[in-house]
Amino acid sequence: MIRIPVVVVVVVLVGFFCCTGSSSESLPGDQEADRIVRLPGAAEELRPFRIRPDGKTLYLNPYAWNNLANVLFLESPAGVGFSYTNTTADLYTAGDNRTAEDAYAFLVNWLERFPRYKPRDFNIAGESYAGHYVPQLSRIVYERNKGIHNPTINFKGFLVGNAVTDDYHDYIGTFEYWWTHGTASLRSSLRGHYPWMSRAYDPCTERYSTVYFNRPEVQKALHANVTKIPYPWKTCSDIVGTYWADSPLSMLPIYQELIAGGINIWVFSGDADAVVPVTATGYLINALKLPTLVNWYAWYDNGKVGVVGARYTRG
Ligand SMILES: *[C@@H]1O[C@H](CO)[C@@H](O)[C@H](O)[C@H]1NC(C)=O
Ligand SMILES: *[C@@H]1O[C@H](CO)[C@@H](O)[C@H](O)[C@H]1NC(C)=O
Ligand SMILES: *[C@@H]1O[C@H](CO)[C@@H](O)[C@H](O)[C@H]1NC(C)=O
Repeated sequence: MIRIPVVVVVVVLVGFFCCTGSSSESLPGDQEADRIVRLPGAAEELRPFRIRPDGKTLYLNPYAWNNLANVLFLESPAGVGFSYTNTTADLYTAGDNRTAEDAYAFLVNWLERFPRYKPRDFNIAGESYAGHYVPQLSRIVYERNKGIHNPTINFKGFLVGNAVTDDYHDYIGTFEYWWTHGTASLRSSLRGHYPWMSRAYDPCTERYSTVYFNRPEVQKALHANVTKIPYPWKTCSDIVGTYWADSPLSMLPIYQELIAGGINIWVFSGDADAVVPVTATGYLINALKLPTLVNWYAWYDNGKVGVVGARYTRG
């Protein structure tokens, strides 16, 4: 493995909760299903290793974020993945607010335990429903850092991908995306229309993860599940999703507060996500009414357009 000097710490919130019956095909009118998406999580997309279909062996991911930064994955909230609570009642009272508070407590304790990472630039990232977790955690960090000279968390910014952000704009963008993409055939034709998908990203990888992370030798190697959690590793928790306590309609007020406070925000969106689509991302960026620094332009990868991007500044 190539070792590259590290400058940043990115914490990626992974692990989702979802409710029974939610799927990429559910209608946006079905509030729960729309919010609570079960797309294969960040862990499948950006980590250093990918899992082969045998659920046993690994290969290197050339797009791993740790080529550029130290990446710390946090399965959140407690009740998903290897994050657990011993108080069963907690599973029935989880919500946005407690998820953010728990993640904050985790980060502060982690940095106190590994203080050499304290001076590093610190960014928070996540995708999908983490479009709620990431800004809410960021706000807590931002507010508790205020007026502190060398805060434990040297917080610089956050990144969200295909992020659930603002119900109003998410709905408009989702309907528009579905209208223009012919939803019924969307999923089955994804691989055909997006040739890079079979090359760079395998939608079945969530299944391979479930096999892989439930292997006793993998758990041992990761020092995970030392307390013998009484249920298997899953990417979603039905219980946690069903009893979710709070989910504000919009994260945009937090964006405004953090932008005004000089925090960097990177909003990105892949165009093959039909649940939190790129069109919705466009609407909510417009809703922020920020002055444009650099207009929309294409980023190329091997001569082909990989992404289009724009930069905004605070007003
Ligand atoms: C958020 O959670 C914290 C810790 O669990 C609690 O002290 C606080 O009152 C909660 N705030 C709201 C608005 O519910
Ligand atoms: C939770 O319970 C397990 C098993 O009884 C125990 O080993 C562990 O220390 C407990 N964890 C906490 C945080 O109390
Ligand atoms: C934890 O370990 C126990 C006992 O080996 C196993 O039955 C359970 O599925 C594991 N749970 C998780 C979340 O890894």
